[in-house]
Amino acid sequence: MQDSYNRQVEYMRISVTDRCNLRCFYCMPEQGICKMDHRDVLRYEEILRVVREGVRLGISRIRLTGGEPLIRPGIESLIRGIKAIEGIQEVSLTTNGQLLADMAESLKEAGLDRVNVSLDSLSPEKYKEITRVGDVQRVLDGIKKCLEIGLSPVKVNVVLMKGINDDEIEAFARLTMILPVSVRFIELMPIGHASHWFKKRYISTDIVLDKLPHLIREGKTIGGGPAVYYRLPEAVGTIGLIGALSHNFCDRCNRVRLTADGRIKPCLHSDLEVDLKPALREGRGDLAHELARAISLKPESHSMGQAGSMNGNRDMYQIGG
Ligand code: GTP
Ligand code: 5AD
Ligand code: SF4
Repeated sequence: MQDSYNRQVEYMRISVTDRCNLRCFYCMPEQGICKMDHRDVLRYEEILRVVREGVRLGISRIRLTGGEPLIRPGIESLIRGIKAIEGIQEVSLTTNGQLLADMAESLKEAGLDRVNVSLDSLSPEKYKEITRVGDVQRVLDGIKKCLEIGLSPVKVNVVLMKGINDDEIEAFARLTMILPVSVRFIELMPIGHASHWFKKRYISTDIVLDKLPHLIREGKTIGGGPAVYYRLPEAVGTIGLIGALSHNFCDRCNRVRLTADGRIKPCLHSDLEVDLKPALREGRGDLAHELARAISLKPESHSMGQAGSMNGNRDMYQIGG
Protein backbone atom coordinates (compact mmCIF):
# COMPACT_ATOMS: atom_id res chain seq x y z
CA MET A 1 0.00 0.00 0.00
CA GLN A 2 1.10 3.53 -0.74
CA ASP A 3 1.27 6.01 2.13
CA SER A 4 0.35 9.69 1.93
CA TYR A 5 3.79 10.56 0.49
CA ASN A 6 3.72 8.00 -2.35
CA ARG A 7 6.01 5.56 -0.56
CA GLN A 8 5.30 1.88 -1.06
CA VAL A 9 5.04 0.17 2.35
CA GLU A 10 6.07 -3.48 1.96
CA TYR A 11 8.12 -4.26 5.08
CA MET A 12 6.78 -4.98 8.56
CA ARG A 13 9.05 -5.15 11.61
CA ILE A 14 7.40 -7.24 14.30
CA SER A 15 8.62 -7.01 17.88
CA VAL A 16 7.74 -10.34 19.49
CA THR A 17 8.80 -9.44 23.03
CA ASP A 18 10.09 -6.50 25.07
CA ARG A 19 12.26 -8.88 27.15
CA CYS A 20 15.97 -9.19 26.52
CA ASN A 21 18.84 -11.26 27.85
CA LEU A 22 21.17 -8.25 27.52
CA ARG A 23 21.00 -4.71 28.93
CA CYS A 24 22.69 -2.51 26.29
CA PHE A 25 23.07 0.85 27.99
CA TYR A 26 21.72 2.88 25.06
CA CYS A 27 18.67 0.68 24.68
CA MET A 28 17.60 -0.04 28.24
CA PRO A 29 17.75 2.36 31.18
CA GLU A 30 19.79 1.18 34.16
CA GLN A 31 16.74 1.28 36.39
CA GLY A 32 13.03 1.44 35.89
CA ILE A 33 12.72 -1.08 33.06
CA CYS A 34 9.03 -1.38 32.61
CA LYS A 35 7.96 -4.81 31.43
CA MET A 36 4.81 -5.43 29.45
CA ASP A 37 2.14 -7.51 31.10
CA HIS A 38 2.10 -10.98 29.48
CA ARG A 39 -1.59 -10.59 28.78
CA ASP A 40 -0.88 -7.53 26.65
CA VAL A 41 1.66 -9.32 24.47
CA LEU A 42 0.21 -10.60 21.21
CA ARG A 43 -0.05 -14.35 20.89
CA TYR A 44 1.47 -15.92 17.77
CA GLU A 45 -2.00 -16.53 16.37
CA GLU A 46 -2.75 -12.82 16.68
CA ILE A 47 0.53 -11.83 15.03
CA LEU A 48 -0.31 -14.16 12.13
CA ARG A 49 -3.69 -12.46 11.71
CA VAL A 50 -1.94 -9.08 11.47
CA VAL A 51 0.55 -10.46 8.92
CA ARG A 52 -2.28 -11.89 6.78
CA GLU A 53 -3.98 -8.49 6.68
CA GLY A 54 -0.61 -6.85 6.02
CA VAL A 55 -0.02 -9.09 3.01
CA ARG A 56 -3.38 -8.03 1.57
CA LEU A 57 -2.14 -4.44 1.81
CA GLY A 58 1.17 -5.22 0.10
CA ILE A 59 3.49 -6.33 2.90
CA SER A 60 5.89 -8.98 1.59
CA ARG A 61 8.85 -8.88 3.98
CA ILE A 62 8.81 -9.47 7.69
CA ARG A 63 11.57 -8.81 10.23
CA LEU A 64 11.22 -10.21 13.75
CA THR A 65 12.72 -8.07 16.49
CA GLY A 66 12.50 -7.66 20.26
CA GLY A 67 13.78 -7.01 22.88
CA GLU A 68 15.51 -10.21 21.90
CA PRO A 69 13.32 -12.33 19.62
CA LEU A 70 15.20 -15.58 20.29
CA ILE A 71 14.16 -15.66 23.94
CA ARG A 72 10.48 -15.96 23.10
CA PRO A 73 9.61 -19.66 23.33
CA GLY A 74 8.55 -21.32 20.11
CA ILE A 75 9.80 -18.54 17.82
CA GLU A 76 10.38 -21.22 15.15
CA SER A 77 6.66 -21.93 15.02
CA LEU A 78 5.94 -18.25 14.35
CA ILE A 79 8.54 -18.22 11.56
CA ARG A 80 6.95 -21.33 10.07
CA GLY A 81 3.51 -19.75 10.27
CA ILE A 82 4.62 -16.53 8.59
CA LYS A 83 6.49 -18.37 5.84
CA ALA A 84 3.37 -20.37 5.05
CA ILE A 85 1.41 -17.21 4.21
CA GLU A 86 1.18 -16.73 0.49
CA GLY A 87 2.71 -13.42 -0.55
CA ILE A 88 5.48 -13.44 2.05
CA GLN A 89 8.82 -13.27 0.25
CA GLU A 90 11.22 -13.00 3.14
CA VAL A 91 11.37 -13.50 6.91
CA SER A 92 14.43 -12.18 8.70
CA LEU A 93 15.36 -11.47 12.28
CA THR A 94 17.47 -8.99 14.26
CA THR A 95 19.18 -10.58 17.25
CA ASN A 96 21.87 -9.83 19.81
CA GLY A 97 23.40 -13.20 18.91
CA GLN A 98 23.77 -14.64 22.42
CA LEU A 99 21.61 -17.68 21.56
CA LEU A 100 22.30 -17.79 17.85
CA ALA A 101 24.90 -20.57 17.66
CA ASP A 102 22.50 -22.97 19.38
CA MET A 103 19.41 -21.92 17.47
CA ALA A 104 20.68 -21.19 13.94
CA GLU A 105 19.89 -24.65 12.59
CA SER A 106 16.34 -24.83 13.90
CA LEU A 107 15.69 -21.27 12.70
CA LYS A 108 16.85 -22.13 9.21
CA GLU A 109 14.81 -25.29 9.23
CA ALA A 110 11.73 -23.27 10.20
CA GLY A 111 12.26 -21.14 7.10
CA LEU A 112 14.15 -18.09 8.37
CA ASP A 113 15.90 -16.43 5.43
CA ARG A 114 18.61 -14.35 7.13
CA VAL A 115 19.74 -12.58 10.30
CA ASN A 116 21.13 -9.22 11.38
CA VAL A 117 23.29 -9.44 14.48
CA SER A 118 24.02 -6.59 16.89
CA LEU A 119 27.68 -6.38 17.88
CA ASP A 120 29.01 -3.05 19.12
CA SER A 121 32.54 -4.10 20.12
CA LEU A 122 35.00 -6.86 19.31
CA SER A 123 36.70 -6.45 22.67
CA PRO A 124 35.30 -8.85 25.29
CA GLU A 125 35.63 -6.25 28.08
CA LYS A 126 34.08 -3.41 26.14
CA TYR A 127 31.29 -5.65 24.83
CA LYS A 128 30.48 -6.54 28.40
CA GLU A 129 30.49 -2.88 29.43
CA ILE A 130 28.10 -1.91 26.64
CA THR A 131 25.71 -4.83 27.09
CA ARG A 132 26.26 -5.01 30.88
CA VAL A 133 26.10 -8.85 30.77
CA GLY A 134 26.97 -10.17 27.29
CA ASP A 135 29.64 -12.55 26.02
CA VAL A 136 31.19 -11.45 22.72
CA GLN A 137 32.44 -14.94 21.86
CA ARG A 138 28.89 -16.26 21.73
CA VAL A 139 27.99 -13.63 19.14
CA LEU A 140 31.02 -14.48 17.00
CA ASP A 141 30.19 -18.20 17.27
CA GLY A 142 26.62 -17.41 16.23
CA ILE A 143 27.74 -15.44 13.18
CA LYS A 144 30.11 -18.24 12.11
CA LYS A 145 27.41 -20.86 12.56
CA CYS A 146 25.01 -18.89 10.35
CA LEU A 147 27.66 -18.59 7.63
CA GLU A 148 28.45 -22.32 7.88
CA ILE A 149 24.86 -23.41 7.38
CA GLY A 150 23.96 -20.75 4.82
CA LEU A 151 21.67 -18.66 6.99
CA SER A 152 22.87 -15.65 5.06
CA PRO A 153 23.60 -12.91 4.16
CA VAL A 154 24.59 -12.06 7.73
CA LYS A 155 24.67 -8.39 8.66
CA VAL A 156 26.51 -7.13 11.73
CA ASN A 157 25.03 -4.00 13.34
CA VAL A 158 27.49 -1.65 15.05
CA VAL A 159 25.94 1.41 16.73
CA LEU A 160 28.72 4.02 16.56
CA MET A 161 29.34 5.86 19.82
CA LYS A 162 31.93 8.57 20.36
CA GLY A 163 34.55 7.60 22.93
CA ILE A 164 33.18 4.08 23.15
CA ASN A 165 33.71 2.19 19.90
CA ASP A 166 34.79 4.79 17.31
CA ASP A 167 38.34 3.42 17.73
CA GLU A 168 37.17 0.04 16.40
CA ILE A 169 36.07 1.09 12.91
CA GLU A 170 39.20 -0.37 11.28
CA ALA A 171 38.93 -3.59 13.31
CA PHE A 172 35.31 -4.08 12.24
CA ALA A 173 36.28 -3.28 8.65
CA ARG A 174 38.98 -5.98 8.81
CA LEU A 175 36.24 -8.48 9.61
CA THR A 176 34.95 -7.98 6.05
CA MET A 177 38.35 -9.06 4.69
CA ILE A 178 37.98 -12.51 6.25
CA LEU A 179 34.22 -13.10 6.61
CA PRO A 180 31.51 -12.62 3.97
CA VAL A 181 29.40 -10.46 6.29
CA SER A 182 28.04 -6.98 5.94
CA VAL A 183 29.23 -4.76 8.79
CA ARG A 184 26.83 -1.82 9.18
CA PHE A 185 27.79 1.25 11.13
CA ILE A 186 24.67 2.88 12.56
CA GLU A 187 24.29 6.40 13.90
CA LEU A 188 23.06 6.50 17.47
CA MET A 189 19.47 7.76 17.48
CA PRO A 190 17.74 9.78 20.21
CA ILE A 191 15.12 7.21 21.15
CA GLY A 192 13.65 6.96 24.66
CA HIS A 193 16.13 7.53 27.49
CA ALA A 194 19.00 7.77 24.99
CA SER A 195 17.56 11.14 23.86
CA HIS A 196 18.81 12.70 27.09
CA TRP A 197 22.50 12.05 26.48
CA PHE A 198 22.78 11.08 22.83
CA LYS A 199 24.50 14.37 21.80
CA LYS A 200 27.52 13.42 23.91
CA ARG A 201 27.91 10.07 22.11
CA TYR A 202 26.51 10.79 18.64
CA ILE A 203 28.96 10.56 15.77
CA SER A 204 28.15 10.76 12.06
CA THR A 205 28.75 7.70 9.88
CA ASP A 206 30.83 10.05 7.67
CA ILE A 207 33.71 9.24 10.03
CA VAL A 208 33.78 5.75 8.49
CA LEU A 209 34.45 7.24 5.04
CA ASP A 210 37.21 9.42 6.55
CA LYS A 211 38.87 6.48 8.27
CA LEU A 212 38.51 4.10 5.33
CA PRO A 213 39.34 6.21 2.26
CA HIS A 214 39.59 3.17 -0.04
CA LEU A 215 35.95 2.18 0.29
CA ILE A 216 34.21 1.61 -3.02
CA ARG A 217 30.46 2.21 -3.29
CA GLU A 218 28.49 -0.96 -4.11
CA GLY A 219 26.25 -0.79 -7.15
CA LYS A 220 23.26 -2.59 -5.69
CA THR A 221 21.57 -2.35 -2.32
CA ILE A 222 21.28 -5.43 -0.13
CA GLY A 223 17.99 -6.08 1.65
CA GLY A 224 15.15 -3.71 2.20
CA GLY A 225 16.63 -1.34 4.75
CA PRO A 226 18.11 2.13 4.78
CA ALA A 227 21.82 1.20 4.65
CA VAL A 228 24.14 2.41 1.86
CA TYR A 229 26.81 -0.19 1.01
CA TYR A 230 30.54 -0.05 0.27
CA ARG A 231 33.41 -2.53 -0.01
CA LEU A 232 37.13 -2.47 0.70
CA PRO A 233 39.25 -3.60 -2.25
CA GLU A 234 39.56 -7.44 -2.22
CA ALA A 235 37.10 -7.76 0.68
CA VAL A 236 34.73 -10.74 0.85
CA GLY A 237 32.23 -8.74 2.90
CA THR A 238 30.72 -5.29 2.64
CA ILE A 239 30.40 -2.21 4.84
CA GLY A 240 27.07 -0.45 5.23
CA LEU A 241 26.30 2.98 6.63
CA ILE A 242 23.01 3.85 8.30
CA GLY A 243 23.14 7.61 8.75
CA ALA A 244 19.69 8.21 10.14
CA LEU A 245 20.52 11.78 11.17
CA SER A 246 23.29 12.90 8.83
CA HIS A 247 21.75 11.39 5.68
CA ASN A 248 18.01 11.31 6.20
CA PHE A 249 16.47 8.38 4.31
CA CYS A 250 12.82 8.91 5.23
CA ASP A 251 11.89 9.59 1.60
CA ARG A 252 12.71 5.89 0.96
CA CYS A 253 10.94 4.56 4.04
CA ASN A 254 9.08 1.35 3.25
CA ARG A 255 8.12 0.03 6.69
CA VAL A 256 5.78 -0.06 9.66
CA ARG A 257 6.42 -1.56 13.07
CA LEU A 258 4.20 -3.80 15.16
CA THR A 259 5.02 -3.62 18.87
CA ALA A 260 4.81 -6.70 21.09
CA ASP A 261 1.69 -5.22 22.71
CA GLY A 262 -0.14 -4.90 19.41
CA ARG A 263 0.36 -1.32 18.32
CA ILE A 264 1.44 -0.18 14.90
CA LYS A 265 4.10 2.52 14.94
CA PRO A 266 4.02 4.31 11.60
CA CYS A 267 7.45 5.85 12.34
CA LEU A 268 10.30 4.78 14.62
CA HIS A 269 10.73 8.26 16.01
CA SER A 270 7.13 9.29 16.47
CA ASP A 271 4.98 8.64 19.51
CA LEU A 272 2.05 8.12 17.16
CA GLU A 273 0.61 4.60 17.51
CA VAL A 274 -2.46 2.73 16.28
CA ASP A 275 -3.64 0.06 18.71
CA LEU A 276 -4.76 -3.10 16.89
CA LYS A 277 -5.84 -4.91 20.07
CA PRO A 278 -9.44 -3.66 20.12
CA ALA A 279 -9.91 -5.04 16.59
CA LEU A 280 -7.91 -8.20 17.32
CA ARG A 281 -9.40 -9.08 20.68
CA GLU A 282 -12.72 -7.37 21.11
CA GLY A 283 -14.05 -7.17 17.58
CA ARG A 284 -14.07 -3.38 17.94
CA GLY A 285 -13.14 -1.86 14.59
CA ASP A 286 -11.81 -3.62 11.54
CA LEU A 287 -8.22 -4.94 11.52
CA ALA A 288 -7.62 -4.21 7.83
CA HIS A 289 -8.99 -0.71 8.22
CA GLU A 290 -6.85 0.04 11.28
CA LEU A 291 -3.73 -1.24 9.56
CA ALA A 292 -4.41 0.84 6.47
CA ARG A 293 -5.06 3.85 8.69
CA ALA A 294 -1.70 3.36 10.41
CA ILE A 295 0.09 3.26 7.05
CA SER A 296 -1.70 6.39 5.88
CA LEU A 297 -0.56 8.14 9.08
CA LYS A 298 3.15 7.68 8.31
CA PRO A 299 4.79 11.08 8.72
CA GLU A 300 6.89 12.47 5.87
CA SER A 301 10.05 12.40 7.98
CA HIS A 302 11.40 11.90 11.47
CA SER A 303 12.41 14.98 13.45
CA MET A 304 15.47 13.55 15.20
CA GLY A 305 18.08 16.16 15.86
CA GLN A 306 15.65 19.05 15.67
CA ALA A 307 15.44 21.30 18.71
CA GLY A 308 12.81 20.19 21.19
CA SER A 309 12.22 16.95 19.29
CA MET A 310 11.69 14.05 21.65
CA ASN A 311 10.48 10.56 21.37
CA GLY A 312 9.32 9.74 24.80
CA ASN A 313 6.88 6.93 25.19
CA ARG A 314 9.14 3.98 24.36
CA ASP A 315 12.74 2.92 24.71
CA MET A 316 14.32 0.96 21.88
CA TYR A 317 13.76 -2.41 23.60
CA GLN A 318 10.02 -1.70 23.43
CA ILE A 319 10.17 -0.89 19.69
CA GLY A 320 12.74 -3.28 18.22
CA GLY A 321 14.88 -0.82 16.24
P1 GTP B 1 17.69 -5.03 6.22
O1 GTP B 1 18.34 -3.92 5.46
O2 GTP B 1 16.46 -5.54 5.57
O3 GTP B 1 18.67 -6.12 6.48
O4 GTP B 1 17.21 -4.51 7.66
P2 GTP B 1 17.44 -3.21 8.54
O5 GTP B 1 18.82 -2.70 8.42
O6 GTP B 1 16.36 -2.26 8.26
O7 GTP B 1 17.18 -3.82 10.01
P3 GTP B 1 17.97 -3.84 11.40
O8 GTP B 1 17.01 -4.35 12.40
O9 GTP B 1 19.24 -4.57 11.29
O10 GTP B 1 18.25 -2.33 11.71
C1 GTP B 1 19.49 -1.71 11.60
C2 GTP B 1 19.43 -0.30 12.14
O11 GTP B 1 18.66 0.50 11.28
C3 GTP B 1 18.79 -0.21 13.53
O12 GTP B 1 19.51 0.71 14.32
C4 GTP B 1 17.43 0.31 13.22
O13 GTP B 1 16.92 1.04 14.30
C5 GTP B 1 17.71 1.18 12.03
N1 GTP B 1 16.49 1.34 11.23
C6 GTP B 1 15.81 0.36 10.63
N2 GTP B 1 14.73 0.88 10.01
C7 GTP B 1 14.75 2.21 10.24
C8 GTP B 1 13.91 3.29 9.89
O14 GTP B 1 12.89 3.14 9.23
N3 GTP B 1 14.25 4.52 10.33
C9 GTP B 1 15.36 4.74 11.05
N4 GTP B 1 15.64 5.98 11.42
N5 GTP B 1 16.18 3.74 11.42
C10 GTP B 1 15.88 2.50 11.02
N1 5AD C 1 20.23 4.19 17.93
C1 5AD C 1 20.60 3.39 16.88
N2 5AD C 1 20.47 2.06 16.86
C2 5AD C 1 19.98 1.49 17.96
N3 5AD C 1 19.74 0.19 18.25
C3 5AD C 1 19.20 0.13 19.48
N4 5AD C 1 19.09 1.36 20.03
C4 5AD C 1 19.57 2.23 19.10
C5 5AD C 1 19.72 3.65 19.04
N5 5AD C 1 19.35 4.45 20.05
C6 5AD C 1 20.05 -0.91 17.33
C7 5AD C 1 20.50 -2.19 18.01
C8 5AD C 1 20.11 -3.23 17.00
C9 5AD C 1 19.06 -2.59 16.14
C10 5AD C 1 17.76 -3.28 16.12
O1 5AD C 1 18.88 -1.29 16.65
O2 5AD C 1 21.86 -2.20 18.26
O3 5AD C 1 21.21 -3.60 16.18
FE1 SF4 D 1 18.65 -6.15 24.05
FE2 SF4 D 1 18.99 -5.28 21.52
FE3 SF4 D 1 18.32 -3.59 23.42
FE4 SF4 D 1 20.74 -4.66 23.48
S1 SF4 D 1 19.92 -3.29 21.83
S2 SF4 D 1 19.35 -4.43 25.24
S3 SF4 D 1 20.38 -6.62 22.68
S4 SF4 D 1 17.06 -5.22 22.70
